[in-house]
Amino acid sequence: MKRVLSVGLACLDLIANCETFPEEDSTQMVLDYYWQRGGNASTTSTVLAMLGERSEFVGAMATDIESNFLRDNLKSYGVKCDNAMVCESDIKTPVSMVIINQSNGSRTILHCAKNLPEVSFSHFQTLDLSQYKWIHIEARPAPDSYSQIMRSIVEHNETVSEKITISLELEKPRRPELDTLMQYADVVFISKEKADDERLFSKEDVVRTYIKKCKAGAVVICAWGDQGAAALSSKDGVLCTSPVFPPETLVDTLGAGDTFNAATVFGLCQGQSLQGAITLGCKVAGAKCGMKGNNGLKDMKWD
Ligand code: FRU
Repeated sequence: MKRVLSVGLACLDLIANCETFPEEDSTQMVLDYYWQRGGNASTTSTVLAMLGERSEFVGAMATDIESNFLRDNLKSYGVKCDNAMVCESDIKTPVSMVIINQSNGSRTILHCAKNLPEVSFSHFQTLDLSQYKWIHIEARPAPDSYSQIMRSIVEHNETVSEKITISLELEKPRRPELDTLMQYADVVFISKEKADDERLFSKEDVVRTYIKKCKAGAVVICAWGDQGAAALSSKDGVLCTSPVFPPETLVDTLGAGDTFNAATVFGLCQGQSLQGAITLGCKVAGAKCGMKGNNGLKDMKWD
């Protein structure tokens, strides 16, 4: 019973639910506010757990009040987090202020990262890799340590028969130095935000462009908002696409991409085809967009 490990950010999201997007320099009543755990890898890890996977999160974590909430909350989903890199003293949990526009579900993120470091390679070396069947990496702005981390998984794979599948999320635009991490990944997720910035105008363009930058046999996947998702495997060269499965009303799109990644990884872990996995990704992400947060995914069944 090996686990799926997600490596990357856990942060606190302070959400303001607004009827419409606020005007600058105005005072406006909000419909609701709440806080929840955010961060791509941490969200991916809980969606994996809700879908039924044994899931673990590793990232840097502070010891402030906010971080206690993050830890308790991860545990409440059954996500193992006791291998996180704990940073003592004056280190602060990153916080995002998020405006959710209730009229269209859009989410605007104002992120404040003070001094939390990135997971170091020396910390990663303390993990027992034989515990994992899949490691999902959210590319963070620390290319050197992330490249050492990913290279060490590849080296581990060379010594064992049960290989760990490595997936990589490249989300942030204007971080070309992180693209070199692709050489280590079996599955690469490219975001629409990054693609837009690189003037790639469709999900199909993205997977066709990026497959050339990946190692032989890799898979590239791109979710494209209301256009669904595309995936291309260099093994068979077959382009798969999935439509979007929109909810009746768009309520909250925060973390929809992290949810898509989790459900796609889950599908692939279950032995589904690439087509099946991205379709599941779109279904679960679509359902998420119809609810506040993602807790409601717990009670849903997926065919
Ligand atoms: C959503 C998210 C939020 C977080 C922000 C960090 O994908 O992970 O939960 O505040 O992105 O960039």
